[in-house]
Amino acid sequence: MNTQDQLKKAVGEKAASLVKDGMKVGIGSGSTVYWLVRALGERIQKEGIHIEGIPSSIQTEEWAKEFGVPLTDFATTKELDVTIDGSDEVDPDFQLIKGGGAALFREKIIAQAAKELIIIVDQSKLVEQLGAYALPVEILPFAWERTAYEIEKLGCVPALRLKEGKPLVTDNGNYIVDCPFEKIKDPAELDQKLQKIVGVVETGLFINMATSVIIGSPEGVSMKEK
Ligand code: A5P
Repeated sequence: MNTQDQLKKAVGEKAASLVKDGMKVGIGSGSTVYWLVRALGERIQKEGIHIEGIPSSIQTEEWAKEFGVPLTDFATTKELDVTIDGSDEVDPDFQLIKGGGAALFREKIIAQAAKELIIIVDQSKLVEQLGAYALPVEILPFAWERTAYEIEKLGCVPALRLKEGKPLVTDNGNYIVDCPFEKIKDPAELDQKLQKIVGVVETGLFINMATSVIIGSPEGVSMKEK
């Protein structure tokens, strides 16, 4: 395992240790969350804790089944105690860019449903200003070129995300455009402007949602709270 994976494993395990018996847990997506799901499965097996999760992607759902983490859904559960998820960028105010794994829409649903949003990252995700990572935006396939044209007016050249030469289709049947804004001065304002464009389903900007961040670095794991 390389160093970055070791850090992802450490933060995933730390977050799993914070989950309490009886909790309903939103489970994010990505390679860091993989370690969280594994560690939750271990706690369920060894300690016999009872939890229920709602996954934010088909991939996470598969991992939950693999590691024995019971799942529920929003038909039976409307509120979650905590959501734990990775991120592509985290700024000093805990504003986030997410969606590198194309799961941002469901991730935002489980983030909004939870009392707490704990973000798990290795130190490489910490930035002074959001934007070096191209902002993923989920858009409807219908007239996607027109939607991308409107996004371009906000100061970037959006690129349609491809998979094997074809547009990547999200778990929700939509497309993703990656938007290299470079430096996002006011993430909340940009989010509002993007949300107003007809055709935009959701943005990868998670504004005022994260309540704590668990950071893995070679010196160890630390947790920052708002
Ligand atoms: C998935 O859509 C993303 O929001 C992930 O949370 C993000 O890309 C972090 O993924 P890694 O843990 O794989 O870096």
